[in-house]
Parts: sequence; C-alpha cells; structure tokens
Amino acid sequence: MPVSLESNVSLRAYNTFGIDAKARLFARFASVEQLRALLVLPEVQQAEKLILGGGSNLLFTKDFDGVVLKNEIRELEVISHDDVSNTALVRAGAGESWHGLVEYALSQNLSGIENLSLIPGTVGAAPLQNIGAYGAELQDTFEHLEAVEMSTGHLRMFTRAECGFGYRESVFKNTLKNQYIVTAVVLRLHRQHQLNVSYGAIRTTLEEMGLETEPTPADVSEAIMRIRRSKLPDPAEIGNAGSFFKNPELSQAKYDALKAEYPDLPGYPVPGGVKVPAAWLIERGGWKGVRRGAHGVHDRQALVLVNHGGAQGADIQMLAQEIITSVRAKFGVELHPEVNIM
Ligand code: EPU
Repeated sequence: MPVSLESNVSLRAYNTFGIDAKARLFARFASVEQLRALLVLPEVQQAEKLILGGGSNLLFTKDFDGVVLKNEIRELEVISHDDVSNTALVRAGAGESWHGLVEYALSQNLSGIENLSLIPGTVGAAPLQNIGAYGAELQDTFEHLEAVEMSTGHLRMFTRAECGFGYRESVFKNTLKNQYIVTAVVLRLHRQHQLNVSYGAIRTTLEEMGLETEPTPADVSEAIMRIRRSKLPDPAEIGNAGSFFKNPELSQAKYDALKAEYPDLPGYPVPGGVKVPAAWLIERGGWKGVRRGAHGVHDRQALVLVNHGGAQGADIQMLAQEIITSVRAKFGVELHPEVNIM
C-alpha cells in the first residue's frame, strides 16, 4: 500500500484525553518500509514530527504544526523458546495495543506482564516511559527493541542497557528524544510462572475472587483489571491520560520533616530517598474530585486529570499548573508531569 499524507486532520480520536487539536499533516505506516517512504518525503523531512501510538500519554494544548506519524505496525509472535531458563521470546509490532500483547502472552501461557494488564497505549510507546504498575515494570521482561533512526532511516537494535530505563524514563525521553521511532519490541516471558502479588491490593482482590491459592497468570491479570477499573477512568468514557504527574522522590530528611507534620504520609524507600504518592499530596491539597466545567481531577484517583467532554488542553494544563503551585506551597514538594504536553 502506498503511503499518503493528509492535511488538517483532527486528532480527537487519536488521544485518550479526547482533545480536539488538529495536525497540519498526518500519515499512517504499517511497516518499516512505509515508514522509510514517509521519512524521505520533503514535507515530512522539513516538518516537526510526532510519532503517535495510542495517544494515551499526551496532552495537546494547541494544534500541532507538523506531521503526525501514526504507528500501525502489527505483529504478535513467539519467536523462540529457551529450555534452560524456561522462557520464551515474544516479538510484538510497535503498533499493537499493549493490552493486546498481554492477552496474547496469556493465551500462550506465558507470564511476566500480567501485572501490566489494561495499561492504555501501544507496544511501541511502552519503552519510552518504561511503563509500570502494581509492582512490575516493562524493563523486568524487556529483551530488546528495534527502532528506525529518523534522520537516516536506518534500523537499529537497542538492548535493555542501551535503553537507559528508569522510573517512567528511558533514553528515548532524554538524550535520544525525537531521534528514533520504535518499530518492534521483544520481551522474554516465563513458561514457569513467578507471579508477583506483593502489591497489597492484588492479594485482597484475589481473595475476593476466591482465587488466592495458586492463582494463574490469567487470574492475576483479572485481579489487576478489577483494581484498575475501580479506580482509573476508562478513556472511552472519560478523557484522561492515566497518572498526570510522576510520584516525587524526596530526600530522607525532607520526608522525615513532612512525616513529622503529616504522620499518615505514605512513603516507599527508593535508592537515595523516599518516593511519596503524588495522589496523596494532591488529595490533601483539596483537589480530589474538583471540577472546573468540562475538566477536573478524578474523584477516585487524585493523580488523574480528566476531560468530562469538550475541555481544551490548555485548560487542563492550567489546572495542572495550579495543582503544582498549590502542592509546592503546602508541602514544599515539586510535582512534575508524567504526560507529554504538546
Ligand atoms: N492515594 C491517595 N489519594 C488518591 C489515590 C491514591 O491518597 O486519590 C495514595 C494512597 O496512599 C495510595 C497511594 O496513593 O496507597 C498509591 O496509590 P495507587 O496505588 O493508586 O498508585 P499511584 O502511586 O497513585 C502509580 C502509578 C500508576 C499505577 C499505580 C499502581 C505513577 C505516576 N503512577 O500510581 O500508573 O497504575 O501506581 O501501580 O507512578 C500511569 O502511569 O498512568 C498510572 C496509572
């Protein structure tokens, strides 16, 4: 299929916040060849580029005066088995939905990503921010990825070490920002299951489901989906991009001082300090459930900003800024957006 460039395209259906911004140029690609064909077009070469996966970690605050390239590369395949480690390598096209990959793994009786069930977005976007939830992160099962260099069209492989993963971080958000387009991801999954149910809510939910003894990976996935559905708004119903902010990491001294003032402040030790839930700070700042016309703060998870319908991205950005200022004034803690603000 030849590639085609469209002009002035509404992005509303392509971002989970449901913001009605427009792209000056827009094209889809379903293979590395199609991507290369697009990258050599003069209009594309000259324009600012935005690679779109599921649009689930993005806030458009204005129209995008460049070219949006929508990744639709599909593939789900078990490519090899290793009998010594009892693992299998699964290769997924970057345009596959992340949850589709989780379901595929479960259908092959492979475990390792069940705790990441129901995370919106695509496979190709997952490594950019090293997606994580309920005690698991992408990097735990990540083997390597393939990516096309935008300036040359060359395909390159990145090992886990080369991706520089951190908490919601990778080289693709930092030193290599806007330089590579992920086309495929390969994960090493387990044939002998080692389930991670250490996150408190997983165990209680499995108990409620009557599945606490010898749960299967599919049971854990089901429990995770229940937990997520009970707290996080479904983007098909209420526009949102999941956690809007990262959980801040405080020095031990700063944490101890805050804890003396707020004894119920939760905290999780991390190398070099303590991570605290931004949701707690935002809720205690009085923001949970606050509604400003068409946008606001979710009433069941204070870390999630929502578009109830028809909100402007700039309004949501302004609300985020107000929350940052208020948390800084009350707790002396700096919040940083997790979502990409365009
Ligand atoms: N809390 C509140 N108020 C709230 C919600 C939470 O005070 O409205 C406090 C509670 O103390 C709770 C703690 O925050 O125990 C943690 O809450 P939760 O388990 O919901 O997790 P989170 O830290 O708010 C992170 C991720 C989520 C991920 C969950 C589960 C970040 C930025 N967010 O949220 O990821 O699903 O843990 O592992 O790390 C996302 O990145 O988009 C996302 C949804």
